[in-house]
Amino acid sequence: YTDIVLAANTLNTFFDHLAQNNWVLLPFDLKMASQLLDSATQKQKSGLFREARLAKSETHQPKIRGDSTLWLDEKDLSLSNSELAALHFLENLKENLRQYFRISISTFECHYACYSVGSFYQKHTDSSFGENPRLFSFVIYLNSDWSNNDGGALKAYNTENLELFSIVPKAGQMILFRSDLLHEVLPTQKTRYSLTGWFRR
Ligand code: OGA
Ligand code: MN
Repeated sequence: YTDIVLAANTLNTFFDHLAQNNWVLLPFDLKMASQLLDSATQKQKSGLFREARLAKSETHQPKIRGDSTLWLDEKDLSLSNSELAALHFLENLKENLRQYFRISISTFECHYACYSVGSFYQKHTDSSFGENPRLFSFVIYLNSDWSNNDGGALKAYNTENLELFSIVPKAGQMILFRSDLLHEVLPTQKTRYSLTGWFRR
């Protein structure tokens, strides 16, 4: 699986990019992405996804954020093999981030997200406050084919509001960025799946 990404020398090159630019695009195993998509769509058919809420108001506000989510819990006995493998991969990535940046990262959390046609997520940051703030955000894209006309790009901006990156949510890649970066998901023209999460202090 995605252990290829974790070959120490290449991973350091990716982390150098993350340290310098506050974001990096990592490769992600296509077979694993397609198996995760199968698990996600099965669980969605069973009605397990919920309309996403905004932290502040605890309500679903599709004019700000239109996705539906399902949190992955490592203690959940119904996790598929690919979900277990993904959690294992993320645990590894957490350790590598911790060592490279010499910071404490105690944990991570993640959820599937599904944006139906027309939905989006307005400009925001993922940072949270309190004891275990979010340090790094990641999004693993699960969509096997995606063209530039399908919308749903993730765009991030620097403090001068200049675009830092724009990526289409196509499988085979994973974006990792500092949680305090301003970013947005543009309206999607196709159902858009991802596994999204955060490494926390
Ligand atoms: C989020 C988010 C980006 C994406 O869920 O907070 O910004 O590309 N997602 O799905
Ligand atoms: Mn976000």
